[in-house]
Amino acid sequence: MRVDIITVLPELIRSPFEGSMMKRAIDKGLVEVHFHNLRDYSTNKQKSVDDYQFGGGAGMVMNIQPIDDCITQLKSEREYDEIIYMTPDGETLNQKMANSMSMLGNLIILCGHYKGVDQRVRDMHITKEISIGDYVLSGGELGAVILCDALFRLIPGVLSNETSALTDSFQDNLLSPPIYTRPAEYKGMKIPDILLSGNFPEIEKWREQKAYEHTMARRPDLLEE
Ligand code: ADE
Repeated sequence: MRVDIITVLPELIRSPFEGSMMKRAIDKGLVEVHFHNLRDYSTNKQKSVDDYQFGGGAGMVMNIQPIDDCITQLKSEREYDEIIYMTPDGETLNQKMANSMSMLGNLIILCGHYKGVDQRVRDMHITKEISIGDYVLSGGELGAVILCDALFRLIPGVLSNETSALTDSFQDNLLSPPIYTRPAEYKGMKIPDILLSGNFPEIEKWREQKAYEHTMARRPDLLEE
């Protein structure tokens, strides 16, 4: 997978890609991430990328010209499967979307800032609009990082234990069951006996039951889907 991230704050989002799972994905050559500083595409002297809103109203709007030039340049170099705009009024990211998007090849992620982008950018180039939740951030950068993390870890070969992504919360619309590691007893608190039984079919049944109970208690909406 190749991801091109268009942002006014490339320095803000570089570091999450420089450690842990995302770094490993990059180092293994399974993903490529390129940052594009929108200011580099601005044709005006001040290198500004935003302006006042037509019709009045609080907040600046990101200009169409630098974004159009950047996306047009990228599109001339390769084909993109999706051109994504991170925005609170987009489709809310969930595991199902992450699963299907993890199979894509080339993505552009445009990070909004200020009040957002000129609507004509969305009409002209954007193929998918994604929100990471019902709250407003100061920019799309952190959302872009979250999206990349959710996608990269699903790419075969990125996680060392291939099955672990398949047993995550939300796969199969179930939250994860409780998990334990050593010691088997801590300050009088014992782990469930079944986990020490060595009876793996029964352990699996126990986990399914716990996952169901946990989902019922916290997210019954997932079971209705
Ligand atoms: N930009 C600002 N808020 C956002 C959100 N909730 N999701 C994605 N991008 C955003």
